[in-house]
Amino acid sequence: MFTTAFAPTDKTQLGELPRDLFAAIEHLKQELNAVILAHYYQEPDIQDIADFIGDSLQLAKAAAETNADVIVFAGVHFMAETAKILNPDKLVLLPDLAAGCSLADSCPPKEFAAFKAAHPNHLVISYINCSAQIKAMSDIICTSSNAVKIVQQIPKDQPIIFAPDRNLGRYVMEQTGRDLVLWQGSCIVHETFSEKKIVQLKIAHPQAEAIAHPECETSVLRHASYIGSTAALLKYCQTSASQEFIVATEPGIIHQMQKLAPNKQFIPAPPTNNCNCNECPFMRLNTLEKLYLAMKNRAPEITMSEDIRLAALRPMQRMLEMSA
Ligand code: 13P
Ligand code: SF4
Repeated sequence: MFTTAFAPTDKTQLGELPRDLFAAIEHLKQELNAVILAHYYQEPDIQDIADFIGDSLQLAKAAAETNADVIVFAGVHFMAETAKILNPDKLVLLPDLAAGCSLADSCPPKEFAAFKAAHPNHLVISYINCSAQIKAMSDIICTSSNAVKIVQQIPKDQPIIFAPDRNLGRYVMEQTGRDLVLWQGSCIVHETFSEKKIVQLKIAHPQAEAIAHPECETSVLRHASYIGSTAALLKYCQTSASQEFIVATEPGIIHQMQKLAPNKQFIPAPPTNNCNCNECPFMRLNTLEKLYLAMKNRAPEITMSEDIRLAALRPMQRMLEMSA
C-alpha cells in the first residue's frame, strides 16, 4: 500500500539543475509532448508554469481529455493515480512520490473492506481523495464539487456509505437531508483551522466574508457565508461584492485569487497552533526543481495493477457521467 512517508531529497541531483528552470521545463514539455496539471494548493511557481490549474474534478476531467503523451501531475499521489486510472497508456509522473494525503491514508483498504462487509446493501460513494484500492471497492467516486449533486441522484431508499472524509460527508448530509454511513477519515489541513481565531478575524475585519472548503469541521463551516470546493471558492470571490475574504482552505489557492481578483484582500484562516499547518505538507513536497527532474528522468512514474485500475475506472466513469 502507498503511504505518505517523507522521502529525503536526492541532493546529488541538485547540482544538475539548469539556471533557468522555467525555460528548461518548457523545453522538456515540448520534447516529451507533456502536459503539466497542477492543483490550486501547489506553490505559486508551479501554478505559473502549469498548462492547467484546477480542483480535483477539473483536474480529473483535464486528465481524461488530454492528448499529451506524458502527464506531469503537480498534486498529490491519489490525483496522479486518478490520471493513470484514466490513461493507462500514458506516462504519468509525480514530482515527489511521497506527496501523499492524510485523508487518503485514513482509509486503509483492509479495514474499509471490513466496514463494507458490516454494511451490506449499501452503495459506496467515495471522495476522490482515496487510494486506487478504495476506488476499486467503490460504486461511485465524487469530489467536493459534485458530492451533493451525486448523492441527490441516488434513490432515497438506497442506503449509502460515504468515505473517507467525515466532514465532507456531514456537509453532504446537511445539504441533501440524507442519512449517510460515514467513514471517520479527515484531512489534517482542513481540521487545523481555529474557530476562535476566525471569529477574532471577523471582529477585526467586519466587512470580510469567511469562505470555507467542506473538508473543514462544522465549527468552522458555521462561520462561513459560502462553502465550496477550491474552484467554487475561487469563482465566488470574483463574483461576490465583498472586497475582503477570510479563506478557510489551503492558502495555495490565494495565489489564483489574487491574480483573478487583484483589488480584493484575502486573509488565510489561521491554524490552531503557531505553525504553518494550514499548508498541506504533502502538496508542498513538490517543487519546481523536482518537477524539472521528474520530466528529465521520466520518473517517478505512477503504476498500478491492471485489475485495480479497471475496478477503479468504473466508479470514476460513473462520476464523470453523473457530473457532466
Ligand atoms: P478540491 O480539489 O475538490 O477542492 O479538494 C481539495 C483538496 O483537499 C484536495 O486535496
Ligand atoms: Fe490530502 Fe488535505 Fe493535503 Fe488535500 S489538503 S492533499 S485532503 S492532506
